[in-house]
Amino acid sequence: MCGITGYIGHREAYPIIIQGLQRLEYRGYDSAGVVLFDGQEINLSKTKGKVSDLQAKVKHDISTKGTIGFGHTRWATHGVPNHVNSHPHLSQSGNLVIVHNGIIENYDTLKKELISRGYTFHSDTDTEVLINLIEEIKIQEKCKLGKAVQLALQQVIGAYAILVFDKEKPNELVIARLGSPIAIGVGKDNKEFFIASDATPFIEYTKDAIYLEDGELAIIKLDRDIRIRKINDDTLVEDVKTQELQLSLEQIEKGNYEHFMLKEIHEQPSAIIDTYRGRLLANKGIIRMSGLDDNMERFLNANRIIIVACGTSWHAGLVAEYLFEDIARIPVEVEYGSEFRYRNPIITEKDVVIAISQSGETADTLAAVKLAKSKGAFVFGICNVVGSSIAREVHAGAYTHAGPEIGVASTKAFTTQITLLSLLALKLGKAKGNLSVPNYQTYLQELVQIPNKVEQLLKEDEHIKTIAAIYKSVPNFLYLGRGYNFPVALEGALKLKEISYIHAEGYPAAEMKHGPIALIDENMPVVVIATNKGYYEKVVSNIQEIKSRQGQLIAIVTKGDTTVKKIANHTIEVPETLEAFTPLLTTIPLQLLSYHIAVMRGCNVDQPRNLAKAVTVE
Ligand code: G6P
Repeated sequence: MCGITGYIGHREAYPIIIQGLQRLEYRGYDSAGVVLFDGQEINLSKTKGKVSDLQAKVKHDISTKGTIGFGHTRWATHGVPNHVNSHPHLSQSGNLVIVHNGIIENYDTLKKELISRGYTFHSDTDTEVLINLIEEIKIQEKCKLGKAVQLALQQVIGAYAILVFDKEKPNELVIARLGSPIAIGVGKDNKEFFIASDATPFIEYTKDAIYLEDGELAIIKLDRDIRIRKINDDTLVEDVKTQELQLSLEQIEKGNYEHFMLKEIHEQPSAIIDTYRGRLLANKGIIRMSGLDDNMERFLNANRIIIVACGTSWHAGLVAEYLFEDIARIPVEVEYGSEFRYRNPIITEKDVVIAISQSGETADTLAAVKLAKSKGAFVFGICNVVGSSIAREVHAGAYTHAGPEIGVASTKAFTTQITLLSLLALKLGKAKGNLSVPNYQTYLQELVQIPNKVEQLLKEDEHIKTIAAIYKSVPNFLYLGRGYNFPVALEGALKLKEISYIHAEGYPAAEMKHGPIALIDENMPVVVIATNKGYYEKVVSNIQEIKSRQGQLIAIVTKGDTTVKKIANHTIEVPETLEAFTPLLTTIPLQLLSYHIAVMRGCNVDQPRNLAKAVTVE
């Protein structure tokens, strides 16, 4: 996590850095800092809190002059989020300065060694250790900054994206990456360069970006060029690839919406279309997706599919378990990236591993991908962020094309992941002969109706707001669903927890009897997904059990439902659809319910406390 952004060129750097930090705040917002070089002095300011707090502090702290500088927004790992632990960090001499995203695992050993050589430390961070290690090497080896950084990183165990400046070399920035992303925006004629954890900070300045690969270090020289080297063996990277960015400024702005989360909820109809555009030709009965088409044999011969993911993406993986087993009859296991990577899993060459990740940067999912590859499995990635680490690491994959998701609580990523997974399941189901042609056609025809149905559902917003107002102050919520909608119950509970800080649990409806039923009394709101497909009657029985214990029932039902309506305190209707696609609809009211409750509680919806959008630490 953490966001890094920097500039070297001929414009004033400060406004570019501040704007960049605001765009990267989704990566962490425990503290923020900026450093500028005015030609003479290094001017540094940092603070606990958000970028807006930093802006206020900078006014009193430093001159904002300078055409070179960088900044950092932090999600705390080592050391509490306070002033001293905030980035940037200076070296002992005050000549070198660094920002860092990641964790240096052997920092303690390195720190002891440096202390024995006379270094003193002001913060609890691993980053301050690294900048002093670079300084010590620079002095001992009498080498330039780039070399010192390279030698220091050879001693480091951990993950990092770093940006380093040396007062003695004021026309140069050094960056490096291992496990955490960093990109360079290349200005015209090398007259300016932008550095950032992702491309959003420089989108209006250049469309040309270079993404550093793991294990690479770049020396960026103003008015000259960029030299990229391998950290471990010093080879020069000859074929540096510049990518043309597809991102637009409009996509990363809030527009007329109060929050990014609300904008992204409302973008779902178009995001779902963008996911299947060019891939789903419903009238012709065709699904095409090169990542799948080119590797059909691997999928068809697979003993099983293992899905690895974290957070909301893991919930999409659970929906996929139902899709693949139901439609394609392929056995599926769904794993948290963090558990999979450390439990010595049995993986064979006959396994297909699907990694799902919005950001494509989640450290545990990425590590799970690497592990699966090392055991010979075929690994397919489903990511949203183009060019992200997971997207580049997998054998093949498909992007969801949902557009940038900035709200920390994931919304459109979830529904677009399910859309893509549905396409995979349908194509495989047909190829395996488990789906009759008429059945297959019915699925395709229905999938293209989903965006319209989501659009209709979004009109329920006011109704959902009134329900939110009734329950905004309760301390607990329970979410129940069965079959395809059990993962939706988990996702609904996660959304509420994340942004409103209300404790919420998701459960398979029938499991309620084995524990959670003890929690139900007249104060407990229970959200039940009770669409008319699947286990409707069984869910109705579960609803009766809640009612007889005076629980407050909020039911998600199919349009025209009369049975549940008579029992529940509140109902929210979703349009009729095939059972397999119900998660694409039932999720929407749960997103809106959490959103309104969080807003009414005065919570920071887009930047909930302690969370970050891309978790690049394990
Ligand atoms: C973080 C985010 C979640 C997200 C999860 C997995 O926890 O706050 O919204 O679902 O990471 O992220 P990924 O980018 O891998 O989908």
